[in-house]
Amino acid sequence: MSRLIVTLDGPAGVGKTTVARMLAQRLGIAYLDTGAMFRAVAWSLGEGAWELPQDDLLRALSRMDFELEDTGEHSTLLLNGVPVPAAIRSEEVGLWASHMGRIPAVREFLRRSQRLIAADVSLVAEGRDMGSVVFPQAPHKFFLDADPMVRAQRRYAQLQAMGMDADLDRLATQIRIRDDQDRNRAIAPLRPAPDAICIDTGQTDAAGVLAQILRHMGYD
Ligand code: DC
Repeated sequence: MSRLIVTLDGPAGVGKTTVARMLAQRLGIAYLDTGAMFRAVAWSLGEGAWELPQDDLLRALSRMDFELEDTGEHSTLLLNGVPVPAAIRSEEVGLWASHMGRIPAVREFLRRSQRLIAADVSLVAEGRDMGSVVFPQAPHKFFLDADPMVRAQRRYAQLQAMGMDADLDRLATQIRIRDDQDRNRAIAPLRPAPDAICIDTGQTDAAGVLAQILRHMGYD
């Protein structure tokens, strides 16, 4: 059987991870959360690492090895053999990840890691540039979007469910800063691939979004 790649891109808090996990489970394939890769790099190098000299950054990246284990909702991203920690999920680390995402060496390193992972397995790949840059040949591409306030509220509920501190106004500001940075960076900016199907997730819950995606893919 040939490999299947489904790409799911969109801004912060749009519900990509939830839908990617459900879709992967439904299709019986793995899902790759590439935001978690940027977050894990940012978290393990620490605050301000985006200002490191290029050589130091390259040396640090050369010591990092990402792998994907298991499938469906059990898909697990490993960094150097260990599952990435829950601590990467804070909004602060999200902002660090967005800063790291502006650095060409980091993007190149992660693009290579993402393609290496996809060389072996079928995937739902979610992120910012999956359909536009990393897997431009993927047969199924989706771009999820929603109003920033809806996304801030969703993120607020998720962080609370994980037992993490959250402040709605602060979250809304951080989401706007990240949106702006992710959409306007020089390389691989957040935007739909020309052949991506756009879905507004502000109007529907995750099950409704999943149903739309499956319908577009020819499953009912
Ligand atoms: O999806 P997320 O919120 O976990 O992503 C965190 C940050 O990582 C995001 O603001 C920008 C960066 N990122 C990226 O530049 N490219 C990707 N494919 C995924 C994430």
